[in-house]
Amino acid sequence: MASESQNWVFMVTAQTPTNIAVIKYWGKRDETLILPVNDSISLTLDPSHLCTTTTVAVSSAFHQDRMWLNAKEISLSGGRFQSCLREIRARACDVEDENKGIKITKEDWAKLHLHIASYNNFPTAAGLASSAAGFACLAYALGKLMDVKEDESQLSAIARQGSGSACRSLFGGFVKWIMGKEDNGSDSLAVQLADEKHWDDLVIVIAVVSSRQKETSSTSGMCESVETSLLLQHRAKFHAVCLDTSPPIFYMNDTSHRIISIAEKWNRSEEAPQVAYTFDAGPNAVLIARNRKAATSLIQRLLYYFPPNSDDLSSYIIGDKSIAKDAGINGIQDVEALPPPPEIKDNIPPQKYKGDVSYFICTRPGRGPVLLSDSSQALLNGETGLPK
Ligand code: DP6
Repeated sequence: MASESQNWVFMVTAQTPTNIAVIKYWGKRDETLILPVNDSISLTLDPSHLCTTTTVAVSSAFHQDRMWLNAKEISLSGGRFQSCLREIRARACDVEDENKGIKITKEDWAKLHLHIASYNNFPTAAGLASSAAGFACLAYALGKLMDVKEDESQLSAIARQGSGSACRSLFGGFVKWIMGKEDNGSDSLAVQLADEKHWDDLVIVIAVVSSRQKETSSTSGMCESVETSLLLQHRAKFHAVCLDTSPPIFYMNDTSHRIISIAEKWNRSEEAPQVAYTFDAGPNAVLIARNRKAATSLIQRLLYYFPPNSDDLSSYIIGDKSIAKDAGINGIQDVEALPPPPEIKDNIPPQKYKGDVSYFICTRPGRGPVLLSDSSQALLNGETGLPK
């Protein structure tokens, strides 16, 4: 590797979205390669509301591979990180930066160490698919740093080895993870079904029911399902599989069930369903409204039943705040003035559940990974290669 100065740092910053599965991945046929027992389909969420930003840097001055997640150093020794790093390094190409006078050959990459800094703009491990955005961003950013020639689908097969759901975050819009048949996993990858403009007035409202760390991780939960669930073989509804796991896994709580019942009552009172709902490995509800009009009615219902604990509405409804504005909700007084939803037949106002939802995130279908070329967005210092 050639460089005029010994203190060079070469880096790349990327941003990658999260995704929410509508047909879930649950269960692996290979734990190490992360090969699923079924195809899954997801919706990529707008990265301006939920995303991971990752800076990857290389320098001959680095002594070991290091990583910082949300400004805290974490270990890279886990098998999943090691698989991603190995797979990307194996595909690295010659890289030259004429301005900095840096030339890194294909062979150099095996000897050079990396610094990686990653940041989620949403709570990590709150059941909001942080590992999906995280590993997708790692694979994408490293691929750019090392000038890997593979396309997004091939990169998705590398991200998959970090966390299964991560492979679907390599694309925007509607994405399918094809389970594949090969034992080596080469055909287990993601493809885009339709881009984010395909259904662009779709609105997604996430009710963050609890930001506590998950009790049963999806990794161990699905492993137990594969071992013990009879329903899994028939691919019945995803949460039924969790309940049929021994011992049963309860991801949803009372608030989750209440949200389902609000959505069901409303849908039944209309001619066509207005909102769909889905849950991952936690109690958070992901509500998908068919259009903006349905989304404003949805947010009115949600705020009616789950008013905030404090008067601060701006931290209670985050993401795309224009939905609440369209619903006529600009302050706490508008929440207090909301009438009971018309589908409630009797005249007794239903019970309210103040404080049971931590906050709502309003978002929409979003684009796939992008490079951030503005150096002010890098998470590592361009001279030291350490977190800023
Ligand atoms: C419920 O991708 O987190 O969100 O592959 O073990 O890292 P690992 O699991 P992970 O599981 C996600 C499960 C799910 C459903 C889905 O996203 O399809």
